Amino acid sequence: MGCAAIAQRSMVPAMLTMPEYNVVAVASRTTEKAEKFAQQFGCEAITGYENLLARPDISAIYIPLPTGLHHTWIIQSLKAGKHVLAEKSIASDYASAEEMVALAKKNRLVLMEDFMFQYHSQHKFIFDLINKGEIGEVRVFTANFGFPPLPAGNFRYDEAMGGGALLDAAGYTVRAVHFVLGDGFTVKAANLKNDPKTGTNIYGSAFLDNGNGISAHVSFGFDHYYQGNYQIWGTRGKITADRAFTPKPDFSPLVVLEQQNQRHEYQLSPDNHFVGALREFHRTITTGTPEKHYHDVLLQSKTLDDIRRLSSM
Ligand SMILES: NC(=O)c1ccc[n+]([C@@H]2O[C@H](COP(=O)([O-])OP(=O)(O)OC[C@H]3O[C@@H](n4cnc5c(N)ncnc54)[C@H](OP(=O)(O)O)[C@@H]3O)[C@@H](O)[C@H]2O)c1
Repeated sequence: MGCAAIAQRSMVPAMLTMPEYNVVAVASRTTEKAEKFAQQFGCEAITGYENLLARPDISAIYIPLPTGLHHTWIIQSLKAGKHVLAEKSIASDYASAEEMVALAKKNRLVLMEDFMFQYHSQHKFIFDLINKGEIGEVRVFTANFGFPPLPAGNFRYDEAMGGGALLDAAGYTVRAVHFVLGDGFTVKAANLKNDPKTGTNIYGSAFLDNGNGISAHVSFGFDHYYQGNYQIWGTRGKITADRAFTPKPDFSPLVVLEQQNQRHEYQLSPDNHFVGALREFHRTITTGTPEKHYHDVLLQSKTLDDIRRLSSM
């Protein structure tokens, strides 16, 4: 739904390599755009998102629209009986996440937020190091995701379209906290900096704590030297994932393990996390087990809401 750059660059090419998927059609607001996209990927062009939802031969919709449009089109898709894979951030706030999850539950449909980085094999490698005791007990988690300014006019600078660094870059760092360390984290302090020109937040940071001795610090922004990493610091060592959020399918990520007087560098195999996320979406549909994704959607939007609330105190 929508000829988004992320769909064209990564998601649809990944779907076309997978036997689980049959890319039936693309819908755009404009016929010309839909036709060009459809021609590139050998599918049908549809004008108007509502006409995509009217198709009985489509069982799932991938929604890479600007965040501010997610609520409307996710609700419409779920009402039309379609499973939904929606780009991050799936919801502009917790109230809308609750409404979407409730409808998905009622209609027995999958609703999944597309944080594909979680499906890259580098994280399994890191979890294995932790489970083997290589860094001892985990004490502190740090995640950073930021990049240089985007071209003016990008929807990420438009509040009404769900713009702002909190709903974009921050989302990765918050998901990483829960993905690596689990639930139970509360936001204790946060700071968001607004761009005076556009009124959207462009950078910030937050401090979270699980009440059990582990803390997390996340930093994010649209006005930065590129960083997309996390560090896990324990009693005996430290692990750094250098390219944690955006490794391209042909990229070999670097994971560093530091211990007393030792430094191990692991150059890992490339992996396609777009395929990984799509495999998970398909698995969730076929096994009828959407609860984890409902839970993740709610936890994520609650944490982002808390960062927004605490930053204004
Ligand atoms: N998970 C990831 O790694 C990742 C990476 C990049 C982006 N994303 C997410 O994917 C989504 C799309 O990002 P993108 O950079 O790919 O966006 P984009 O290229 O700007 O595409 C967004 C699409 O939304 C449709 N649209 C409908 N109403 C719109 C409006 N008023 N303004 C702008 N677009 C409108 C347009 O499709 P039509 O004109 O064809 O209708 C447009 O092509 C966002 O939620 C973003 O956070 C995720």
